[in-house]
Amino acid sequence: MSTTVGLSLRNSLPTTGDQPTHPRLLEWLDEVVELCRPDAIHYCDGSDEEWDSLVDLLVAAGTVQRLNEDRKPNSIYARTDPDDVARVEDSTFICSVDERDAGPTNNWMAPAEMKRVMTQLYDGCMVGRTMYVMPFCMGHLDAKDPKFGVEVSDSAYVALSMRIMTRMGAEVLRVMEETGADFVPCLHSVGMPLSDGQPDVAWPCNSTKYIVHFPEERMIWSYGSGYGGNSLLGKKCYALRIASAMARDEGWLAEHMLILKLISPTGREYHIAAAFPSACGKTNLAMLQPTVPGWRVETLGDDIAWMRFGEDGRLYATNPETGFFGVAPGTGAATNPNAMAAIDRGNSIFTNVALTPDGDVWWEGMTKEKPAVLTDWKGRTWRAESGPEGGRPDETAAHPNSRFCTPIGQCPILSPDYDNPDGVPIDAIIFGGRRENTVPLVTQSRDWRHGVFMGATCSSESTAAAKGAVGVLRRDPMAMLPFIGYHVADYVQHWLNLGAKADPDKLPKIFYVNWFRRDCSGRFMWPGFGENSRVLKWVAERVDGLVDAVETPIGLLPTADGLDVDGLDISADDLHDVVRYQPQEWRDEVPRIGRWFDTFGWRLPRDLVDELRQLESALGQP
Ligand code: GTP
Ligand code: MN
Ligand code: MN
Repeated sequence: MSTTVGLSLRNSLPTTGDQPTHPRLLEWLDEVVELCRPDAIHYCDGSDEEWDSLVDLLVAAGTVQRLNEDRKPNSIYARTDPDDVARVEDSTFICSVDERDAGPTNNWMAPAEMKRVMTQLYDGCMVGRTMYVMPFCMGHLDAKDPKFGVEVSDSAYVALSMRIMTRMGAEVLRVMEETGADFVPCLHSVGMPLSDGQPDVAWPCNSTKYIVHFPEERMIWSYGSGYGGNSLLGKKCYALRIASAMARDEGWLAEHMLILKLISPTGREYHIAAAFPSACGKTNLAMLQPTVPGWRVETLGDDIAWMRFGEDGRLYATNPETGFFGVAPGTGAATNPNAMAAIDRGNSIFTNVALTPDGDVWWEGMTKEKPAVLTDWKGRTWRAESGPEGGRPDETAAHPNSRFCTPIGQCPILSPDYDNPDGVPIDAIIFGGRRENTVPLVTQSRDWRHGVFMGATCSSESTAAAKGAVGVLRRDPMAMLPFIGYHVADYVQHWLNLGAKADPDKLPKIFYVNWFRRDCSGRFMWPGFGENSRVLKWVAERVDGLVDAVETPIGLLPTADGLDVDGLDISADDLHDVVRYQPQEWRDEVPRIGRWFDTFGWRLPRDLVDELRQLESALGQP
C-alpha cells in the first residue's frame, strides 16, 4: 500500500469538493483509495447544497424518498435491507493488542489477524461507487481538546446522517488543518462493489459484517452494514468505545448518558446525567415535561455524555453529538411531545418507519388510533385490521428498531448551555434499569463508591421475560455493556479512581431508579414518563439536603411523605410497593451480583467485593 507523493491513484479520480491539505489525512486517504478503489471521491463540506445534491442522488438510486413537504419539510425516508436493521453486537470487536485488555464482555481478535481478514474484504469494495470523505468533530470545535475524526464511507445515506449527528464538513477540516490536529480514522463500506454495468440495489449491504475498534491505534473499521449504529462511526464507535479508552488514559468519562437541566419553581438549576440501557427511557427522560407544577426541564443530550473535572473540582458534562438518533416506536404526543415537535420541524431522516398515504411517517405509539392504510417498513400495503399484504395480521407497520435522525437544535426545550463548550456542572448521576421487582423506584447511594457499585450492578430484563420470573437478567454496567472499549473491571476501577481523587463534597450524588416495577398481574405500578419529575424533584431536594431519607442496607430511600405525590393517580398500595425495598428480594439478589462479579476475573475491583460483603451482612438472615 505504498504511494509516491504526487502520483497517487487518488489524484487521478474524478473529484468533487475541496481537497484537504492535512498531511496525515492525505496519506491515509491514499491508502484507502488504493485498497477500496472507488470510482470517484467527494470531499464533504456539510453545506445545504451538498445535502440537496446527495438527497437527489439517493432518490434517483431508490434508497430514499422525499416526505410530504408540508408535514415533514426537507426530510427523507429510507427502508433498509430487512437484514440490516440494528447494531450487530456479535460482529463488534475490540481489537486491543493484548486479548486481556478487551475483557470478558467484548469480542476480540488479534489486530494483525483482523486487519488481514478485513483488508481482503475491503479490497476493491468501493468499485463502482463514490467515496465520501467526512471530517467531523465530536463535541465543540472550540473545546479545550477537540476530538476529531474523519469518516470515509461509500454511502451517501451515511454522509447525510453524519451531517445531522456531528459537526461535519469544511469548518472542521479548516480547524484540523490550522491546528495540525490528529484525528481518528474511521473507514466504512457497505461492502457491495458494482462491477461494470451491474445495477445497484436500493439498500446495498453485505451479509458479512464487522464493526471493529483498534483502541491503541484509535482507529475504527466498519464493513457490511449501512444501519446507523454500525455506520455512523462518530456515535457509538467513536464517542463511546474509542472515547472510553481515551477517557481512561486522560482521566475523564465517556458515558451512555442523557444530560438534562432541571429548574425549580424558584429558578434553582440542577444538572443531571442519567444512564439507562438501550430502550429504557433516556430519550424520554431527556425531554421530560414535568407534571409537578412550576418545575421545568431543558434538554442537553439524550444518549452520550462526556464528563471531565473542571478547575473548580466539579464534574462537567457535554454532549458530543448534534442530533437525536431516537427509537421511533413509542414516541408520541402523549409520551414525548418535545421529540415530536423536534421531528415536525423536518430536516430529518426516517429509517424503517411506516409511510402514510399522504407521504408522512407513522409508527406504533405515535397516535392512539392507527391509520387505516399504510405502507409498512418493508414496502407492503398494510391495513390496521389485517396487517401487511401477504404477512401476519400482528406484524407492526414500523420496525421495532426504526429510528428518527433529527437535528438537536430543533428540540423546543434545548438548553442554551448546549452551546457551552465547557458543559454543565453535574449535581446528580442516575443509573437505571428495567426490573419488574427487587429494585425500588429510587435509591440514593451512601457515597461515590456505593454509587459505583450500583452502576456496576445495573441490570435490565426484557419486557418479553416471563411474568414474575426472577433471574433472567442481563447485567449492563453503567448501561455501557456494548460500548466499553476495554476491560469491564478496569472501566469500573476507573470510575472508583476518579471518585477517590476528587473532593467528596464536590462529587455528584449518585442515584438508582427503576420506572418498571410490576404488580403480580404484570402491570407497571409507576405511571412513569412526565410523572418521573416527582423522582427528579426528590433527587434535587436530596442534593440540597432539604429532605430526609431512610437508611436501608441497599441505600437511602424516600421517607413515607418524601416523594411529592400531590395529584398523582396511584393507589396507596401501589405507591408503597414501588418505593419500598423487600429484604428477601435483596437476599436473593446478592448471589446474582456475586456471579456477575465472578465474570470480571482477577481484575475485579476490591471496592466492589467490599460493597457486596457489606450489603450481604447488612441484609442479615431472614
Ligand atoms: P437508546 O436510544 O437505544 O439508547 O434507548 P433510550 O434509553 O433512549 O430509550 P427510549 O427513551 O427510546 O426508551 C423507549 C422505551 O422505554 C419505550 O418502550 C418507552 O415506552 C419506554 N419508557 C420510557 N420511559 C418510561 C417510563 O417512565 N415508564 C415506562 N413504563 N416506560 C417508559
Ligand atoms: Mn443509546
Ligand atoms: Mn435514545
